Amino acid sequence: MKKVILIAGGSRGIGKYLAESLKDKFLISVCSRTLEWTEYDNFFSYKCDLRNREDARGFVNTTLNKFDHIDVVIYNAGLMLYDDLLSVREEDIDAMYEIVVKGYLFLCQEIIPIMRKQQHGYIINISSTRGITAAPDKSAYSAMKRAATSLTDSIRIENEQYGIRAISVHFGMVDTDSSREKYGDEIHRFNPIGLSSVLETIRFLLSFAKDTQIDSIVVGGKL
Ligand SMILES: NC(=O)c1ccc[n+]([C@@H]2O[C@H](COP(=O)([O-])OP(=O)(O)OC[C@H]3O[C@@H](n4cnc5c(N)ncnc54)[C@H](OP(=O)(O)O)[C@@H]3O)[C@@H](O)[C@H]2O)c1
Repeated sequence: MKKVILIAGGSRGIGKYLAESLKDKFLISVCSRTLEWTEYDNFFSYKCDLRNREDARGFVNTTLNKFDHIDVVIYNAGLMLYDDLLSVREEDIDAMYEIVVKGYLFLCQEIIPIMRKQQHGYIINISSTRGITAAPDKSAYSAMKRAATSLTDSIRIENEQYGIRAISVHFGMVDTDSSREKYGDEIHRFNPIGLSSVLETIRFLLSFAKDTQIDSIVVGGKL
């Protein structure tokens, strides 16, 4: 039976690349605020705003109706609003909190009861090296990513007896449109990793046996 992978945040960048690359071997369900409904045998896209609990529930239930089970969640939805500690704006803090922390929690609250019934499931939190250490001008972003790392640890601790795994994947800078919008050609100063390395990392994680619990992995960048 093909595994079902649910990707939160897949209209562009990492999420879109993963959805398109993994759809040959897996059944993919992907969402974002700007994606339109599309449906094929192996691929399904859903328009929703994950800051809203009802939307998260709709995404999970519609995926379940279509594919019957959910094996893997890749929580990729996020906002990268960088600023130094003294300049960071309240609306940017709120915006990042809403999607990086609260949206993640809402989606997990919908999906974990299903995974408990299945007695298996894998939750992959797409994090950043900033989910472990701070760096200049990324104060609020680091705080949100660390909060999501902490949630991932709670998910693992509270659910491993149900066969559920949870991991934070801490990527260094990735060469995506959103990184280029911020840094332009300066991006090369940060030695970004390519989207193909992100894909290889996810494939590597999916290759482990169901009982292999890995807390976190760092790929690229500097801690
Ligand atoms: N790029 C990097 O250098 C890098 C490095 C380490 C970690 N990361 C992490 O990797 C993830 C993706 O990065 P990226 O560069 O691919 O970013 P991106 O291009 O900005 O993509 C973010 C995705 O999240 C979706 N999203 C945002 N708010 C949402 C909401 N309320 N509901 C549903 N979907 C929502 C966006 O779709 P809509 O706008 O259509 O909703 C989009 O598909 C982020 O979590 C980021 O923190 C990125």
